[in-house]
Amino acid sequence: MADKKKIIAVVGATGNQGGSVARRFLQDSSYTVRALTRNPSSDASRELAALGAEIVQADLDDPASLERAFRGANVIFSVTQYWEPFFRPDCRAKAAELGVSCRRYAYDVELAQGKNIADAAAATVDSLDANGFLVSTLSHAGKCSGGKLTEVYHFDSKADVFPGYVNDRYPELAAKMSCIHTGYFMTSHRILPSSYFQKLEDGSFQMRFPTRPDRPVPHLDVNTDTGNFVYAVSKMPPGKAYIAAGSFAGFGEYLRLFGEVTGARTSYKQVSYDEMVADADDKDTGIETAYMYMYADDPGYDGGMELLTAEDLKKAGIECPMTTLAEWIGKQDWSPVLNK
Ligand SMILES: NC(=O)c1ccc[n+]([C@@H]2O[C@H](COP(=O)([O-])OP(=O)(O)OC[C@H]3O[C@@H](n4cnc5c(N)ncnc54)[C@H](OP(=O)(O)O)[C@@H]3O)[C@@H](O)[C@H]2O)c1
Repeated sequence: MADKKKIIAVVGATGNQGGSVARRFLQDSSYTVRALTRNPSSDASRELAALGAEIVQADLDDPASLERAFRGANVIFSVTQYWEPFFRPDCRAKAAELGVSCRRYAYDVELAQGKNIADAAAATVDSLDANGFLVSTLSHAGKCSGGKLTEVYHFDSKADVFPGYVNDRYPELAAKMSCIHTGYFMTSHRILPSSYFQKLEDGSFQMRFPTRPDRPVPHLDVNTDTGNFVYAVSKMPPGKAYIAAGSFAGFGEYLRLFGEVTGARTSYKQVSYDEMVADADDKDTGIETAYMYMYADDPGYDGGMELLTAEDLKKAGIECPMTTLAEWIGKQDWSPVLNK
């Protein structure tokens, strides 16, 4: 019966992570998917509606809209987008007006939006399942690096809320929460083209990060697998922390697979912070990501935390299909990279 269906409210349903989650739960007829968006008439919203999602207008800056959107939900999936202010001239102008870097401004926005999500989820905590608050987050770089890296803002803005603020403010909600760290999106070469594949004069490609080439990092096929992973986590007891990834491999291995698939000649250079910033098209993006790749080197992307993996979910008897880095690289059309 339709009214017996569980409701999952999905933040970011028109984006990469939330879109994958919405599509996965739409395949389970015991769920109604409530897809949150600022713009119910966008193409992405219409596509989700056509797949059967209920589209709900909500803005992460508007707490009342979130309370309405979450009301009565059995499950909430939460994700926040640190990078949006980088792409918005009005946010860049606002940051300049406040006399802060775009990076710091984006931290403040993501922190506030995360708190709004937590506050609104707490308002409906009674309707949530025992493991009903599934949050996308990252490790706390400031804390996990022992205070060495205090400006990996897009990690700390997530960890300061999920789990920080939730644990401090809402013990009942915290008891229903699972923290899902997400690995490097396998598509990230599109954001940092000069660091992933810098074309050298001899026609070869050089990958350039401050991370050692053999330092394993998590890689995630975000659009295909976030939903599979979050769906699997929903079958677990609450209170655990996970890393969503299809492979754990060094960037040297990423490059080797790229060379094998494309036939391109490649090299890896472990660059300094300054070199990575100089490579970036946008300075703020260069600084933020250079600190992140240093953090991924030491202490590591997970900050040294014990995080459960897809293998652990499988060991618990839960299906969790994930795409490996080799599979993903093997099925890409690399011509835009090769012909640049
Ligand atoms: N790139 C990587 O390798 C990597 C790795 C791990 C984690 N991450 C993190 O992933 C996050 C981005 O996730 P994503 O790629 O899924 O994002 P995305 O594809 O850009 O989607 C962002 C979603 O958030 C929604 N949204 C943004 N601002 C909103 C607001 N004010 N109110 C309501 N909804 C809002 C958007 O909905 P509408 O536009 O429809 O309103 C959209 O659905 C970032 O925080 C990043 O740090 C990235």
